[in-house]
Order: sequence, then structure tokens, then C-alpha cells
Amino acid sequence: MAYELNLPTAASVPQETVASYVTATYAAARQFLDNPPLRLHLGCGTVRLPGWVNIDVDDGPDLQLDLRFGLPFPDACVDLIHTEHMLEHMCLSDGKLLMAEAYRVLRPGGTMRVGVPDLQRIVQRYAAPDWRDQAWIKDRNFDWIDTPVALINTSFRGWEHLYLYDETELRLRLWQAGFADVRRVASGESSHPDLKGLETRPETDLIVEVVK
Ligand SMILES: C[S@@+](CC[C@H](N)C(=O)[O-])C[C@H]1O[C@@H](n2cnc3c(N)ncnc32)[C@H](O)[C@@H]1O
Repeated sequence: MAYELNLPTAASVPQETVASYVTATYAAARQFLDNPPLRLHLGCGTVRLPGWVNIDVDDGPDLQLDLRFGLPFPDACVDLIHTEHMLEHMCLSDGKLLMAEAYRVLRPGGTMRVGVPDLQRIVQRYAAPDWRDQAWIKDRNFDWIDTPVALINTSFRGWEHLYLYDETELRLRLWQAGFADVRRVASGESSHPDLKGLETRPETDLIVEVVK
């Protein structure tokens, strides 16, 4: 399958490789099914949430998974999903697959919280006279970003970003995955007690919760 922006995608991996990978990951994930509630933290990086299954493609967390190949869990067995600053590291087709997988594995009434950088805010900053006035540029030694064009190119291409979302796009893709109920929420805030205070990055400025 050709990807619309010609970016690397899981669809380019041979089917036999995918089949053996999926079989192995289902076996590895089985250990977590006996201890409900099941909470998945996708693309955890170095962040470890106690009581959650921390998942990343890199070695070290509770479960090492390449999320481009979906979630190796049965239907309707997951209570909560949280992911911060991960979805933009997937191309659109892989991101759509992951959203559909999240819908499949969540129990009815289960909730997913998704936090990403907001493309609308990035574009606003690009166009603003004070575009440089951003905490992450100052705090993380990005002083080589010396023009608005360098800023926006970095946002799209830096950190292995593959696809950025604004609220409309994120809502649409989640709706296409099956989530009818999409709510934008503030950083750290949730009506669900287990989803409060999870964000670790000030630049996570587009956060939604979806309920299956
Ligand atoms: C910017 S880091 C965010 C880490 C953490 N959530 C945080 O906010 O500090 C993105 C993470 O997504 C992970 N990631 C990217 N693509 C992935 C994939 N296909 N499957 C699993 N994890 C992936 C990376 O390994 C990395 O740890």
C-alpha cells in the first residue's frame, strides 16, 4: 500500500514478519490480562506510571512493542489508555491503525487520553512577532532556531515527527476509528481520577479524552 505522503509505514513490512511479530507480542502481553484494571501507557519513553503497563518500541518498559503493528490484546479488555507525545511519531496510516486498535481493545465505557503538540498553536507561533517566546526553545537549548521558518520546519521534521495534528484533525481521526465521544481537556485535568496529573510536558497542548 502506498502511503499518501510517502513516509515509512508498517505496511511496507513483509506479512510473514508481521505475523510472527504479532504472535510473539500476544504471548508477551498475556501476562497482563490477569490483573485488571488494565491500563496501557503507549510510547512511555522514560516515563513509568505505576499500575500501568508502560509500553514503548525501545527496550526497558513493561512491554516492548512497535505500536505500528497494533495492540496485542483481545477485544474489550482494556480499561484505560494514556499516550503523550507519541502519536505524532507515527505516519497517518499507522496512527489510524493504532486509534482503531485502541477502540477495539477498550472495554465499553473505557477511556483513552491522547496528548500531542497542537499544530494550530505551532502555526500561530510561526506567524506571531514573538514566535521565539516559547519555553521549550529557551529551556532546552534550541537557540539555533533563529527564524520562524526554522521553527516550523523543526516542528514538522524534528524529533522524528511524522504527522502533526490540530484539534479538528485529531477529532476526525478518532471519530473515524469509532470514537463518537471526543472531549478536549486541559493538561493534568480529568473527570477520571486515574487520568489526572499524567502529562509531563508543558508542550503537550492538545489533549483529548475519548470514551468507547
Ligand atoms: C517524544 S517521546 C515521548 C515519551 C514520553 N511519552 C514522554 O512524554 O516523555 C516518543 C516516544 O514514542 C516512542 N515511539 C515512537 N514510535 C513508536 C512505535 N512505533 N511504537 C512504540 N513506541 C514508539 C518512542 O520510542 C519514544 O519513547
